[in-house]
Amino acid sequence: MARSFCQITDFTTDEVKQVFDSCARMKKGEIAPKPLEGKSVACIFTKESLRTRVSFEVGINQLGGQALYITDKEIKLGQRESVADAARVLSRYVHMIMIRTFKQSDVEELAKYGSVPVVNGLTDLVHPCQIMGDFFTVLEHLPNKERPIIAYVGDGNNITNSWLNLAQRIPLEIRIGTAEDCHPDPDILKKAKEAPDSKVLVTDDPKEAVAGADVIYTDVWASMGQKHLAEDKEQKLRKFQVNSALLAGASDHAVVMHCLPAERGREITDEVMDGPHSVVFDQAENRLHIQKAIMAFLAD
Ligand code: CP
Ligand code: NVA
Repeated sequence: MARSFCQITDFTTDEVKQVFDSCARMKKGEIAPKPLEGKSVACIFTKESLRTRVSFEVGINQLGGQALYITDKEIKLGQRESVADAARVLSRYVHMIMIRTFKQSDVEELAKYGSVPVVNGLTDLVHPCQIMGDFFTVLEHLPNKERPIIAYVGDGNNITNSWLNLAQRIPLEIRIGTAEDCHPDPDILKKAKEAPDSKVLVTDDPKEAVAGADVIYTDVWASMGQKHLAEDKEQKLRKFQVNSALLAGASDHAVVMHCLPAERGREITDEVMDGPHSVVFDQAENRLHIQKAIMAFLAD
């Protein structure tokens, strides 16, 4: 079984830091490794994507490799054949697998039964590449913060869970402002609360979450695969909208983040998303750099 990146906690703290370091050097152009020279990466998508699809393909090319775009229309993962058999077959053709899908267990099964590294490009549970790129963005904008205060306001979803995973590796103060039945994954929340160097709070008061925060983060209220719940989620989460009034309670230097795609006017207003505190497009760019660093680490 090769090393994989199914969740942030698959890497040690030293490895996470090593990835941030090589990401910075690649972004500055100090290094331009080609660990995928002559190699192929299967990029499997059973959900839609703009950023993940394009940033992985471009990144794989820049690392010297070839990206294969595969959708569920062809492979019907877990239906035409077992995930384990698909993993065994793919491992005979390609040198790495990136997958975006629904079930975290499918990603972990690919990693278990395949013999090549697997990178998680988003599941219902986590979106590890996103939060690695996002924390790299925090480091760029707020380099001197020892334990930044991250206020995540909105649905407790795969993005929230990934911040909680990062809190198990990097000292963070995470404040989650969300409604009673929109909480993040209970196991991941428990582990993050036990992380000795981090602090975690869950509150139903958005103002309490953002008070003095360094980062205000939000995401869509209904994730992919949950769009049928959009109206219900909107009712529950309306008071967690990231708007100018909420932002006024954060630090003056606070950055506003969103993984995108955004539903402008719902979880975030135009004035905030396009305002001076917003770093959302830096986040999007950094997906490219961080994923190159993650793939280079795994390909070594
Ligand atoms: N943030 C993100 O993963 O975007 P896509 O869904 O467009 O890939
Ligand atoms: N929580 C969102 C993230 C999109 C990048 C979703 O899963 O749809």
